[in-house]
Amino acid sequence: MVGDVSDSPLPALTQIAPDLRSLADYERRAPAHLTAEAWHHIEEGSGTGQTLRANREAFAHRGFRPRAMADLRGGGTATELFGRTHAAPLMLAPIAYQRLAHPDGELASVRAATALDTGTIVSTLSSVPLEEIAGAARAFAHELGKPAAPLWFQLYLQPDREHSLALVRRAEAAGYEAIVLTIDAAIKLSGMTLPPGVGAANLSGMALPRQTATPGGRILFGTPLADTAPRWEDLAWLREATTLPILIKGMVLGEDATLAVGLGADGLIVSNHGGRVLDGLPSVLDVIEEVAQATGGCVPLLADGGFRSGTDVVKALALGASSVLIGRPQMHALAVAGMPGLAHAIHLLRTELEAAMAQLGCATLADITRERLTYLY
Ligand code: FNR
Repeated sequence: MVGDVSDSPLPALTQIAPDLRSLADYERRAPAHLTAEAWHHIEEGSGTGQTLRANREAFAHRGFRPRAMADLRGGGTATELFGRTHAAPLMLAPIAYQRLAHPDGELASVRAATALDTGTIVSTLSSVPLEEIAGAARAFAHELGKPAAPLWFQLYLQPDREHSLALVRRAEAAGYEAIVLTIDAAIKLSGMTLPPGVGAANLSGMALPRQTATPGGRILFGTPLADTAPRWEDLAWLREATTLPILIKGMVLGEDATLAVGLGADGLIVSNHGGRVLDGLPSVLDVIEEVAQATGGCVPLLADGGFRSGTDVVKALALGASSVLIGRPQMHALAVAGMPGLAHAIHLLRTELEAAMAQLGCATLADITRERLTYLY
């Protein structure tokens, strides 16, 4: 994570450098292509970074029990989610303000994902309007002569329900295929000052939920930020408001997963927001099983937080996830080499995933079961 941090960042490379062979390589080079403030904003965890570190460390504790000489013929990584085929169990997590990493921002990432048949989840806080992102995805798929990859919209509930509804309607009209309701980040008390042209392009004219604390006055409780934080009744409302599949992002407990499914959630994303919200949450890898057991496979379970290699992905699938999302690596790859950089990073991850499956004796995703895992220490 340590690299050159400079306030006159290098422009994105125009060619993939030969030393870029893993997501870690992109991460190592990224600081030289970002302002110090942007790098810090992308990398930071909350508190002392316990959860941020736990997300990564959890992978190191798990090892593999491969089956020898398995028949790998007819193998593949394709997976179905909500009636759509994904080339691999991988998607781009919603990441706000992608123009911080590259001038093309979300347009570059959705094109990279399209080229690699990978689904994208567009943030409410995208720095390019959601309609433009969907248009760019469709146009690029057309240019490449392939079907558009799955495109989902991540919703942050707005203080005013009419504004939330307007975002949902815009996403529906633009052809987004699912709504990802993020429930874990309403109470987040930091934020960076965004450079010009990087702000929340979807929210013009809407009041942003902000901290209004004053010394000697109210801090959080009794302020609009706390009073408008999402509640279960908001999920019931959203369920009535749209026919699109709804996924809840930010699940860390089995009992909440059961509640969410009972209220009509079609999928869950196990996530601690990349260690950016409540410091002290356990690693994502360590809670997937609890959530999977609570829902008993009745809805797809996705997960994000610290996934950086093919073996990381396999470990989550073995514990019950259907697919995983990558967060920060998108920003690293965009900063280092724009759209080709991110396409290359996705390709590297898919290559590692196939290699790990083959070495484990798993020709298909269904072969990746709990029995393939052990503890390393
Ligand atoms: C995020 N995340 C996030 N989540 C979300 O639902 N909406 C958002 O707008 C954002 N924005 C955002 C910005 C930045 C800079 C980061 C690092 C993260 C959380 C994100 O979707 C995901 O949960 C984590 O990033 C996953 O962890 P890794 O892959 O970054 O370790």
